[in-house]
Amino acid sequence: MKIRKVGVLGAGLMGSGIAEVAARAGYDTVVREVTEDLAKKGMGRIQSSLSKAVEKGKLAASERDAAAGRLRSTTALEDLADCDILVEAIVENLEVKKETYRELDRLCKPETIFCSNTSSLTITEMSAATKRPDRFAGLHFFNPVPVMKLVEVVRTIATSPETEETVLEFARSLGKEPIRAQDNSGFVVNRLLVPYLLDAVRALDEGVGSRDDIDKAMELGCGHPMGPLKLLDFVGLDTTYFIAEIMFNEYREKRFAPPPLLKRMVLAGRLGRKSGRGFYEYGEGK
Ligand code: CAA
Ligand code: NAD
Repeated sequence: MKIRKVGVLGAGLMGSGIAEVAARAGYDTVVREVTEDLAKKGMGRIQSSLSKAVEKGKLAASERDAAAGRLRSTTALEDLADCDILVEAIVENLEVKKETYRELDRLCKPETIFCSNTSSLTITEMSAATKRPDRFAGLHFFNPVPVMKLVEVVRTIATSPETEETVLEFARSLGKEPIRAQDNSGFVVNRLLVPYLLDAVRALDEGVGSRDDIDKAMELGCGHPMGPLKLLDFVGLDTTYFIAEIMFNEYREKRFAPPPLLKRMVLAGRLGRKSGRGFYEYGEGK
């Protein structure tokens, strides 16, 4: 199927990045948020990312303006009805996702493909909430979306080969390198990365090293662009906590259990960059 119009659900950290790369790739893109204010915030995030790309010489000013012209935001689910593909990047909560998919299943044309950017929920569970499990796949981007080349394409036992092919092609058209993943919690990357991130929180709690030294250890010792505690702030401590809970329920192994310190920080509203404070402080509004 020819993809012309892209719908994105959620204009948070990931949704804004996904909408940006779709618009930059030439697609008419509509991004839906739950309130005007959040929609505006998401569009603002996209504008500054596009400008950053221009500053960094990754994008011409004319391409930035053309991408911005293909993008619009809405709070009305109905505005997604004529999209050819939907990429959902809303809160990592199965019930909220299923409720949204039920509504979209009624609103969208039968040929619309649904993709979830979930980090840890199994795609099969979401697709079962719709009448289009054959046109449902996982399309898992990495943060920050405009920069990270990888996407994981997840086919369930019900996904049709045509749908998988269309989603792979769509990923490549965004300039991404897709890998195929099984529909298990965490797919490939998070199956390996989440235990590592959780272990960093446990190491901090147990005094294995200071916050700065744990990050420096992995940056200077292993060449990571960001140490694990910085990365947790970047991903979002709330999202990481949700992911850990889901993966622990799936695998029942301690290495996926969210450490108490992580839970306490989320409860205290220390969500990382998105709230201005996590393991580090980021000042107002970063
Ligand atoms: N558009 C295009 N390119 C951009 C850009 C944008 N908006 N912003 C930055 N870039 C480019 C820069 O031009 C630069 O490219 P070059 O190296 O070719 O010059 C590169 O991206 C790095 O950007 P910066 O120099 O501005 O910033 P940095 O060097 O501090 O890198 C970072 C920032 C890319 C986030 C880097 O720290 C990094 O890669 N961190 C690790 C991120 C990571 O691990 N992500 C995965 C998280 S897990 C996940 O996402 C899955 C899940 O489900 C939770
Ligand atoms: P986020 O909290 O930054 O954004 C989630 C957004 O979803 C919020 O702005 C919220 O208002 C919006 N939302 C909630 N319900 C909605 C609805 N019914 N309709 C439209 N918008 C709705 O979260 P995020 O970090 O962008 O994560 C979003 C999804 O992407 C999650 O499934 C997460 O697991 C996945 N993911 C996150 C990362 C990461 O590094 N943060 C990486 C890959 C995948």
